Amino acid sequence: MRVYVALVGALLLLDVAFSLEEGCLAGRGQKSFPSPETTMKECLLYSNASCCFANFTEELVSPVTKVEHTKWDICQQLSDRCETYMKRVECFYQCSPQAFHWMNPDYTAGFLHVPLCVSFCDSWFDACKDDLTCAKSWLTDFKWENDSNHCQHDCVTFSKMYTNGTDLCQSMWGSSFLASSSEGHCLQIDDQDDMVLPHILCPSSRSRSTTSSQEKPCHQSSLSLDEISPDQENWDSVFVTSLYAIARELATWTHLQMALQIMLGASHQG
Ligand SMILES: *[C@@H]1O[C@H](CO)[C@@H](O)[C@H](O)[C@H]1NC(C)=O
Ligand SMILES: *[C@@H]1O[C@H](CO)[C@@H](O)[C@H](O)[C@H]1NC(C)=O
Ligand SMILES: *[C@@H]1O[C@H](CO)[C@@H](O)[C@H](O)[C@H]1NC(C)=O
Ligand SMILES: *[C@@H]1O[C@H](CO)[C@@H](O)[C@H](O)[C@H]1NC(C)=O
Repeated sequence: MRVYVALVGALLLLDVAFSLEEGCLAGRGQKSFPSPETTMKECLLYSNASCCFANFTEELVSPVTKVEHTKWDICQQLSDRCETYMKRVECFYQCSPQAFHWMNPDYTAGFLHVPLCVSFCDSWFDACKDDLTCAKSWLTDFKWENDSNHCQHDCVTFSKMYTNGTDLCQSMWGSSFLASSSEGHCLQIDDQDDMVLPHILCPSSRSRSTTSSQEKPCHQSSLSLDEISPDQENWDSVFVTSLYAIARELATWTHLQMALQIMLGASHQG
C-alpha cells in the first residue's frame, strides 16, 4: 500500500514540477502546452517541444511575404540575411516553450522584457541595416486596414530607423525584448538557450555573499491571475487563461485517476 501512496505523491509532484516548467503564450494560433512537431518547415530548433503547430511554419518559408497579418515585404522584400534574423525572432515568439516564462501580465498572447544578448541584437541590426521599413514599432506604428498593415510613414533603411542593435531589439516589437549585456544570462535564440535558461530564471548566488538572507528570488512567470483586471479589454486573455487553468486541473485529475486505478488494480489482485 505504501508504494501506491508514494506513487500518487510522485505523480502529484510531477504535475507540480510540470506546471512550473511548461506552458505556452496564450496566442490565438498557439497550443496550451508544448509538444513535438515532426513536419515543421522552419523553426526546427523547437521541434522537440513546440508551442506552434507545424502548419504555422509554412508562412516562414523564404521568401517571406506575410506572417499572420503582418506583411514583411511592405517596403520591399527583405534580404535573406535580414529575413533569417526576423525568422529567428518570430520562431521564438510563436514556437519556443521558453517564451512562456516572460508572459506579459497585461497581454498574455505576448511576452515582456525577454533578455536578448546585445551581441544578438547587434548582429540582427547588421544583417538588416540596408533593408527597408516604415515603422519603428511593428506593433503600434503601422496603420491596420483590410486585415493587414500599411505604412504611415516613408520607407527608410533599418540603420536610419534604429540607432543600433539595442534600439532595434527594444523598439521593433515594443517592450517584448530587452538588450542585455549580462554574459551567460541572455538569450541568443539558438541551441544554447536551453543551457542558459536556468541561469536566467534562477541566477546562481555563488558569486554573491552566500550568507545573504535576501537572495534575489528566481525569475518567475510574471503572470498571476489576480493581476488581470477584468475591466481591461482583454477578456479574450482572461478566457484563455481560465481554460488553461482548467486544462491544468484536468491534467492533475488524469494523474490522480491513473494513480487510483493502479491502487484499485492492486487491491483487486490482493
Ligand atoms: C531533440 O531530441 C533529440 C533526442 O533527445 C536530440 O537528439 C535532438 O538534438 C533534439 N533536437 C533539438 C532541435 O533540440
Ligand atoms: C494548423 O493545424 C492545427 C492543428 O492541426 C489546426 O487546429 C489549425 O486550424 C491549422 N491552421 C491552419 C491555418 O491551417
Ligand atoms: C481597403 O480596401 C478598400 C476596398 O477594397 C480600398 O478602397 C482601400 O483603399 C483599402 N485600404 C488600403 C489602406 O489599402
Ligand atoms: C544605442 O542607441 C541608444 C539610443 O537609441 C543609446 O542610448 C546607446 O548608448 C547606444 N548604444 C551603443 C552601444 O552605442
